[in-house]
Amino acid sequence: MNNLTAEHDKVGFFDSGIGGMSVAREFLKLRPNADVFYIADWDFCPYGDKDHEIVLERAHTLTRKLLEKGCKLIVVACNTATAVAIDSLRATYDVPFVGMEPAVKPAALHSKSRVIGIIATANTLQGRLFRETSARFAANAKIIPAVGEGFVELVENGEQNTDRARAVVSKVVEPLVAKGADHIVLGCTHYSFLKELIAEIAGPSVTIVDPAIPVAHRAASLISHAN
Ligand code: DGL
Repeated sequence: MNNLTAEHDKVGFFDSGIGGMSVAREFLKLRPNADVFYIADWDFCPYGDKDHEIVLERAHTLTRKLLEKGCKLIVVACNTATAVAIDSLRATYDVPFVGMEPAVKPAALHSKSRVIGIIATANTLQGRLFRETSARFAANAKIIPAVGEGFVELVENGEQNTDRARAVVSKVVEPLVAKGADHIVLGCTHYSFLKELIAEIAGPSVTIVDPAIPVAHRAASLISHAN
């Protein structure tokens, strides 16, 4: 199970919708010839405020579908599914999993104001991964969590820069900036598609931290040969 996945092996990604494409597209930049399967679980989107049992069951169902397709590496390209299901997935299936981590660490290392905003779904912010990472860096920085209310729906509707998108995003981002955040962590893969708008609303003194790239690098590092 710890063997590296070979370059010709299939790699599976899943998310509640198109959010995880933010990770898959970075992965494909690194491994352009990889054989990628992507599942958007639209019938159950959004995951962010669903019962944990449902998200857990969906994570297992989608993983089994990807394994049936022959995937040898699974990227849980969803912070919510990672928060709810990654331990259970790793304990159940004999393939490597890469999940999304709340990127509080790099933000805490670079923050000058020592105030960090993290925007994620309710389920992610209630999860063990977020609680543990926040506690680990709480001595270095004050971490302010915020639910990205309505963000997933904007992205799924292809609204990245409409007046409505601006209003929905401002409502969440402006209070974080007002509280002194100089870093805002994107804790949901859908939010990558709102990154420019979030950055514009937050202003030039705020750094937006998006874990899509490091997670894609981690997945690529598990492929044995560069393409
Ligand atoms: N893109 C997902 C995440 O990273 C799911 C968001 C949702 O479905 O609410 O959390």
